[in-house]
Amino acid sequence: MGKFSLFLLGMAILIFNSASKAADLSLTLNKDEMKKADSIYQRYCSLCHGKEREGYKADHAPSLSSKSMLSTAYPQILYDSISWGRVNSAMDGYSEEAGGPLKDSDIILLIRWLAQKENISLVDLDQALISGNSSQGETLYSKNCASCHGDQGQGVSGPALADQLFLSSATDSYIKYAIVNGREDTPMQSFSKSLKDEEINNIVAYLRSQASGWRPNPLELAEWPNPEDYVINPTGEAPKFKLRESRYVPAHEVEKALEDNKKLIILDTRPGSAWQRIHIPGAVPMPYYRDKSKIADDLPNDGTWIVAYCACPHAASDSVINHLRSLGYKNTAVIDEGILKWIEMGLPVVAGKDKVNYVGN
Ligand code: HEC
Ligand code: HEC
Repeated sequence: MGKFSLFLLGMAILIFNSASKAADLSLTLNKDEMKKADSIYQRYCSLCHGKEREGYKADHAPSLSSKSMLSTAYPQILYDSISWGRVNSAMDGYSEEAGGPLKDSDIILLIRWLAQKENISLVDLDQALISGNSSQGETLYSKNCASCHGDQGQGVSGPALADQLFLSSATDSYIKYAIVNGREDTPMQSFSKSLKDEEINNIVAYLRSQASGWRPNPLELAEWPNPEDYVINPTGEAPKFKLRESRYVPAHEVEKALEDNKKLIILDTRPGSAWQRIHIPGAVPMPYYRDKSKIADDLPNDGTWIVAYCACPHAASDSVINHLRSLGYKNTAVIDEGILKWIEMGLPVVAGKDKVNYVGN
């Protein structure tokens, strides 16, 4: 272990630009630390990535146990992905700096735990840029990759690749490694037999050309709303929703209710970081990982409509609504499309720091 952890410790000074001091990245967590990391993981991550880190529990969340991912993504890409999330996906930022619930030390504990669980050895990836012909890469991409990663790299069943947060932390050789080796036990197959080295380089060059060099700026975090302001249009009438499967309400009906100054509560069940960045006007942050025994403290149980949404589009919102229903809340629903579709449909959204003028109050 000696050499390995020294190597990691040396590297820590270079990599963690947001931590003020070098982090201990050695894979030597003791029993208590393993237990603590496991409980953080189960509370915040298992909803989508699965109890055993196997992935695909909800919303195509990738496996977090594949050795080929961990041995190349540890530590920086794991750290960045968890801290900042990925744009336009259900993967939100979990760092306090992004408005999320986790301290830097928790995130570092988590990534060490993920790596230690699979007992990885790091693959030493070259930092050099890979050159290739990006227009040929585009054609190859459409043919071989678009079915899972989307024709615009926006992600479908596979993660988004034309994602600024991903491309700002993934090096060319990291991307190439994933294409050449695939990810074991996931739908991502190795392309080492079906594509030539040069063709893979062209695809990498194409993906790289989709990065606009954007880096996450620290957000200006807004104050969390007060429980007394949770009800939108408290003097309005109740909306009349038609639910699919007694649970799902179409986005346009919720939008109509807002427009008509109806009385309701909207819960944003994603991590707080996602609410800070963008949310439905008047929505209250009620993350799926919030202590369940406290959820009901702030929400009236008087028949006021409560609709919840997430990006997933159902996993997080279902878990909160299931809980409210188990407590006897009537009139609860999940916004069927989720917020990513809501945005795509051109329905109104605001950021945490925006004043909400849209709702009557
Ligand atoms: C059958 C669907 C499918 C196809 C086709 C496919 N991928 Fe993937 N890809 C995935 C999935 C699913 C993952 C996530 C795997 C996991 O759980 O780690 C992935 C992961 C990746 C990653 C790692 C992303 C990250 O966040 O670390 C890269 C890079 C990638 N794919 C590139 C490609 C390229 C380039 C092609 C075409 C040559 C391709 N993939 C074809 C499904 C696919
Ligand atoms: C609401 C669902 C959801 C939750 C909860 C969630 N994730 Fe994710 N995660 C995703 C999705 C979806 C992706 C793929 C994003 C994309 O399409 O680019 C992802 C991607 C990732 C990646 C990048 C993996 C790769 O192959 O490059 C890491 C690392 C990750 N998540 C870790 C975590 C951790 C740790 C937590 C808990 C603190 C967590 N996630 C919570 C949905 C989720």
